[in-house]
Amino acid sequence: MRAFVKVGVIGLGYVGVPLAAAVAATGASVVGVDIDPGKVDAINVGQSPLRGHEPGLQSLLKEQVSKHRLRASLDPSEAANADVVAVCVETPIEPSTHDPSNKALKAALAGIGPHLKRGALVTIESTLAPGTMESVVRPTLERASKMKVGRDVHLVHCPERLTTGKLLHHLTELPRIVGANEPIALRKALAFYGRFVNAELHATDWTTAEVVKTAENAYWDVQLAFANEVALISEELGVDAYRVRDLVNTCPFRMMLIPGAGVGGHCIPKDPWLLISPAVQTKPELIPTARSVNDYMPKRMARLVEEGLAAAGRKVKGSRVAVFGFAYRENTDDARNSPAKEMIQELRKRGADVVIHDPHARTERGYTIVRDLKAAVRGTDCVAVVTAHDAYRKLDLKALKRTMRRAVIVDGRNVFAGPEVVKAGFVYRGIGKGQF
Ligand SMILES: NC(=O)c1ccc[n+]([C@@H]2O[C@H](COP(=O)([O-])OP(=O)(O)OC[C@H]3O[C@@H](n4cnc5c(N)ncnc54)[C@H](O)[C@@H]3O)[C@@H](O)[C@H]2O)c1
Repeated sequence: MRAFVKVGVIGLGYVGVPLAAAVAATGASVVGVDIDPGKVDAINVGQSPLRGHEPGLQSLLKEQVSKHRLRASLDPSEAANADVVAVCVETPIEPSTHDPSNKALKAALAGIGPHLKRGALVTIESTLAPGTMESVVRPTLERASKMKVGRDVHLVHCPERLTTGKLLHHLTELPRIVGANEPIALRKALAFYGRFVNAELHATDWTTAEVVKTAENAYWDVQLAFANEVALISEELGVDAYRVRDLVNTCPFRMMLIPGAGVGGHCIPKDPWLLISPAVQTKPELIPTARSVNDYMPKRMARLVEEGLAAAGRKVKGSRVAVFGFAYRENTDDARNSPAKEMIQELRKRGADVVIHDPHARTERGYTIVRDLKAAVRGTDCVAVVTAHDAYRKLDLKALKRTMRRAVIVDGRNVFAGPEVVKAGFVYRGIGKGQF
């Protein structure tokens, strides 16, 4: 198999950064392209722009930059004449309509198109609504490159499957779906991915690959909605949904997921909408309903804060609430679509003074992150756990109580054993928890 010499990675986020580093480690010369100067500068000094715990990523990236195999640029022409170009830009939905937004995708293709060499492989790693390869990617690329897909350039859709916190491991160890509509594109893609993916590469066509990726995330969302609905019912009945889950899963072929304070991240809240977006004759019901169940969970958290405070003799208005965790996922900095945001908005609407603590996530407009845990809880009436960061599991409840004004804990992630919290003198409420 002929080695690929030069590779362009367009979009240096959670997908592009580990991909660029892993491909560079195969010996290729990699140019990463992004529109964010901060990310480009960070990579060029050997620093991963991603925060949170990503085992192996920082050291791999530093090594590849120091060996001059990986560099980043704002200018797509630096990736000119690449053998392979991987497109890893964001593919969100329009917030009001839930329709796919392909702005970044189109801009990335328009940027790299003029610099593609004949015979290059373009692989779209971004998640796409079914039909996007044919209706958006192919025409945009042909227009920008003035070349014909399938004759002059080769195009595949190989959607990424990784999860923050395990980026490198997932990138190299998970099987991949390779959507190709012609044999040369497939052959080139199998050669490319075979260099750094130590798992099966499943060949299929563009549209099937698009449906598979969005369906696997919609599947997860529906399963989470089921767990969350059982949690809401369990709360009413005064039983512990986590115990219910353990017992349900003793029955063969049941794999109930863990309920919680809400579903976040770049992918799960939007990919179900991407999947159903082309449906015209079919009226999807289950998938949008699951979305609304999951969207309700942060509102439920705010309601539990209200209930907990009432049990401690306080109103939400004027209370100080420490929100523990702003990232949507434990031990990462990734706060995209975090349920914490919705819950904070709800609490602010009710007149609470909200302090946000997170060990990794960064301050965003309207959400100032406090790093010091003690400072965050001092003088608060309630602690509400939205993210199960390790730091919260090790809390000394007695010390916590001494720092707080009132002692209320609302547990959105089953971080605490309810009876222990109550024994330590707190009012305790939680998603999926009966009252103690
Ligand atoms: N984050 C995940 O865990 C994950 C997992 C699987 C699939 N995906 C999919 O992969 C894609 C990328 O996700 P991500 O999490 O890496 O997004 P991200 O927002 O972290 O990164 C995207 C990057 O693309 C850059 N970008 C935007 N427009 C550009 C342009 N015209 N030229 C160059 N760079 C541009 C942005 O500045 C950003 O750095 C999405 O489609 C997502 O759904 C993400």
